Amino acid sequence: MDLGLKGKQALVCGASKGLGRGCAEALAAEGVNVTLVARTADALEATAEAIRKASGVNVTTVACDITTPEGRAKALAACPQPDILVTNAGGPPPGDFRNWTRDDWIAAVDANMLTPIELIKATVDGMMARGFGRIVNITSSAVKAPIDVLGLSNGARSGLTGFVAGLARKTVANGVTINNLLPGQFDTDRLKKTMAASAAAAGKSTEDMFAARQQQIPARRFGNPAEFGAVCAFLCSVHAGYMTGQNVLLDGGNYPGTF
Ligand SMILES: NC(=O)c1ccc[n+]([C@@H]2O[C@H](COP(=O)([O-])OP(=O)(O)OC[C@H]3O[C@@H](n4cnc5c(N)ncnc54)[C@H](OP(=O)(O)O)[C@@H]3O)[C@@H](O)[C@H]2O)c1
Repeated sequence: MDLGLKGKQALVCGASKGLGRGCAEALAAEGVNVTLVARTADALEATAEAIRKASGVNVTTVACDITTPEGRAKALAACPQPDILVTNAGGPPPGDFRNWTRDDWIAAVDANMLTPIELIKATVDGMMARGFGRIVNITSSAVKAPIDVLGLSNGARSGLTGFVAGLARKTVANGVTINNLLPGQFDTDRLKKTMAASAAAAGKSTEDMFAARQQQIPARRFGNPAEFGAVCAFLCSVHAGYMTGQNVLLDGGNYPGTF
């Protein structure tokens, strides 16, 4: 299927590895010129070079912290009129809410709620004026099925989800859709890190913890960033113009509910 995206411009945040990289690669494979954002310059440049070689599209890099106003200004200066915006940043740390201070909450809300909202604010009117836009927010399955130790994530991302649900109905008549992609467990560095920590806390080996977790998922495996990216690219495609304000769960069947 031709996704109809050749020549479009995408701003993809958190794109040097993991799910953001999966989205950038899938968009580039469809002929989208991509601007990649992440903090660590050398890893970002290595990813950019791999995408250039694989797809031949124009790849621009911006090494910055997207959760800061300065970082967002740099990213938007490099890609001022994106047709596609993928919002993403690291998730907040796990813990017990009794230990979280106001500053911990503000950091989580800044990174996982206000940063996407600021990026949407800076780009959505231009998309509407041009009659086409696709915004995909990478959130988490924790929005649908909250995870107790990830209270900061559950809370901040639910705030974004509520905001998007309202705005997405205001933009679609002008060709702009806004949807959220909810990852379950995907094989990325972040998953490896969190699982190593849980394994250590439980006195198990990381390998045993990995195997046990995969057995709990109906698909009996973790997702991979390429399949996450493929769904992102479809949401960004010309074929998905009637789909907006949705929370698309990718979790190998882990969520047990009907809806
Ligand atoms: N993997 C999963 O199973 C899973 C499940 C549920 C939710 N999620 C959420 O999905 C998102 C992506 O996860 P992932 O597994 O792909 O993580 P990852 O493998 O650690 O990759 C994160 C990417 O984002 C960049 N990044 C992080 N913080 C940033 C910031 N402040 N500014 C700019 N770039 C930033 C990282 O590069 P630098 O560190 O160099 O900046 C990297 O490129 C996270 O919010 C995570 O909580 C993931």
